[in-house]
Amino acid sequence: MFENLSPMPADPILGLMTKFREDPHANKVDLGVGVYKDEAGNTPILACVKRAEQHRIDTEATKVYIGPTGSPAFNQLMGELAFGQDNPALLADRIRTVSTPGGTGALRVAADFIKRVNPNSVIWVSDPTWANHTGLFEAAGIKVKTYPYYDYQNKTLKFDEMLAALSQIGADDVVLFHACCHNPSGMDLTNEQWDQVIALTKQQGFTPLIDMAYQGFGDGVDEDAYGVRQMAANVDDMILCSSCSKNFGLYRERIGACSIVGKDSHSANVAYSVLLYVVRCIYSMPPAHGAAIVETILGSSELKQQWLDELKVMRDRINGNRAMLVNKLIEKGVTRDFSFIAKQKGMFSFLGVTPEQVAKLQADHSIYMVDSSRISIAGIGEGNVDYLAESIAKVL
Ligand code: LMR
Repeated sequence: MFENLSPMPADPILGLMTKFREDPHANKVDLGVGVYKDEAGNTPILACVKRAEQHRIDTEATKVYIGPTGSPAFNQLMGELAFGQDNPALLADRIRTVSTPGGTGALRVAADFIKRVNPNSVIWVSDPTWANHTGLFEAAGIKVKTYPYYDYQNKTLKFDEMLAALSQIGADDVVLFHACCHNPSGMDLTNEQWDQVIALTKQQGFTPLIDMAYQGFGDGVDEDAYGVRQMAANVDDMILCSSCSKNFGLYRERIGACSIVGKDSHSANVAYSVLLYVVRCIYSMPPAHGAAIVETILGSSELKQQWLDELKVMRDRINGNRAMLVNKLIEKGVTRDFSFIAKQKGMFSFLGVTPEQVAKLQADHSIYMVDSSRISIAGIGEGNVDYLAESIAKVL
């Protein structure tokens, strides 16, 4: 049976991790996968996570099955973190949340949920979007189409074109938005633009699916959730997929959440029953460890404050790296305008060089980035920015 298989190419993002690890170059630079790194290039475990894990070791009483919903405490706290405690949708009991194996697990649950709600739904994703979105939805049997988003030429949003495209989408379809820190472009909607998008969503009646993988990496935990909160307060139905991989540094614990907002409490309950059915059919129940860490942190005012402080350190370092790279490129005599990098948000930006230049940076300088020239800003540091800027200058 297997002799008819042909090999799949390596994943465009994850494949870079392997290549980078195998490269013996002393000055190699990893701008590939979206993982936070400190100045030394490490991804340490947050101190608040260590404390929460110790608490779990001391208090965990059983390893019995947790059930398809995952931990109710985690689900409630994650709902509050994403939607805000005073969100009208939360106060009206319109939101149901399940714990999922990472943000990708949340997206797959959402995909299977959509397929069950309307097998003919098309999901519209931004052009460009996270490399795994398309494969993930297609794997669930959902047709994927794109709406205009990033203007590669001018390094801005194609906002008018985006609105024009959204105004052609009907009530049977789903539109995927990035809550903040757009992956891969770093170009986010302003609050005013969110308001326009939400008004259009309401007018057209399509279902918004918001992917929030980087809450707290843009401007702050509350600021980054503006679109999510306003959308939930203003539309009847909505899906939110969130991740604790980056903001809690829990990458390999695989913990995230999928929330469904229904038009009222009854319709939220019905949607929830479908969600639980979907979960049972994919992986039965989510892993518990990451959720236990997050609920311990969010449930303690002291640990939560420590987490917010640690998150700010990560956010500030990334924003600092943005400015540092732009200035260093000028210092190295690069005349092309890279100032857009300092204006964008979150973990990523497109450097805006050709695939040939990306290949040259990797082959000649051991600098790793996705073929599209997406760079993970966290991989930059004071120790490598000179080498990085010099190499970019040479390749340009
Ligand atoms: C990324 O875009 O680099 C991250 O979201 C990691 C991944 O799974 O692709």
